[in-house]
Amino acid sequence: GTTLAASATERGRYFGTAVAANKLSDSTYVGILNREFNMVTAENEMKMDATEPNQNQFSFSNGDRIVNHARNQGMRVRGHALAWHSQQPGWMQNMSGTALRNAMLNHITQVATYYKGKIYAWDVVNEAYADGSSGARRDSNLQRTGNDWIEAAFRAARAADPNAKLCYNDYNTDNWSHAKTQGVYRMVQDFKSRGVPIDCVGFQAHFNSGNPVPSNYHTTLQNFADLGVDVQITELDIEGSGSTQAQQYQGVVQACLAVSRCTGITVWGIRDSDSWRASGTPLLFDGSGNKKAAYNSVLSALNSG
Ligand code: G3I
Repeated sequence: GTTLAASATERGRYFGTAVAANKLSDSTYVGILNREFNMVTAENEMKMDATEPNQNQFSFSNGDRIVNHARNQGMRVRGHALAWHSQQPGWMQNMSGTALRNAMLNHITQVATYYKGKIYAWDVVNEAYADGSSGARRDSNLQRTGNDWIEAAFRAARAADPNAKLCYNDYNTDNWSHAKTQGVYRMVQDFKSRGVPIDCVGFQAHFNSGNPVPSNYHTTLQNFADLGVDVQITELDIEGSGSTQAQQYQGVVQACLAVSRCTGITVWGIRDSDSWRASGTPLLFDGSGNKKAAYNSVLSALNSG
């Protein structure tokens, strides 16, 4: 293939990007989006604060702009994210107990029902595990409603959109030897053994010098897949530049291609200037929309083998 999407499709995968609704009027941005990608994730527009700014008053206009653009272009959509400790609307941030649990479940039901049939996979729960050596859940208002909040979230999502794949999504879960990776692995193992509806695990894959692409990445992806879930790289970006960055991108693509249940890769933005990172050059296109060395190495990795 000559584009990321075409080459990924030849390998039975998709290639996606995060999209910001307010950039859909930028012709350079949209030109690259339409040419190179066949999966999109709303960067912010489908999160809790965006979709339920006031309790029980839902707002889907910006999410719809992204979903409609994707569907008109024949691209699929990853829904991001139904339940998260961060980017909660103000009204939710100080809630607790049964009221918060019910508000979360209502949010999941309403949003997943609204987008029913249009979503390939939902990030049902995002970033629920703690960093560091504990391997435990992260403290949050949602966690304090009871340890079963994650499975309750997955059951509500399944009831609302039975055909969407339901994923758990997190960062710093790439290195098999990290406690956080092990904690998420044990949760997925437990969910599968008890029949909690989970179909996939997303690895955000935000890499930098302190958190490099691990040499055991393939092992991590394969071990999760062996639990009976699909795996995806969901928010890929890699700090750095030039051939070093290009090689790291190539390693990520090769790790996914080596795991049959790794169904696709999404980068977290199009041009370096679109990145959430305040500085740096972590993406595949430069600020002018030119292909970088990292782009060429990703494309050639997709096309070899
Ligand atoms: O839209 C408002 C604008 O009206 C306001 O003037 C401006 C001033 O701060 O803020 C704008 O909102 C910002 C929003 O991005 C849109 O640009 C928020 O402050 C800012 O916090 C928000 O950052 C997003 C971040 O998630 C929030 O947690 C990033 O764009 C987004 O890339 C990032 O994405 C996350 C994933 O969802 C989960 N995994 C990690 C990843 C990177 O942090």
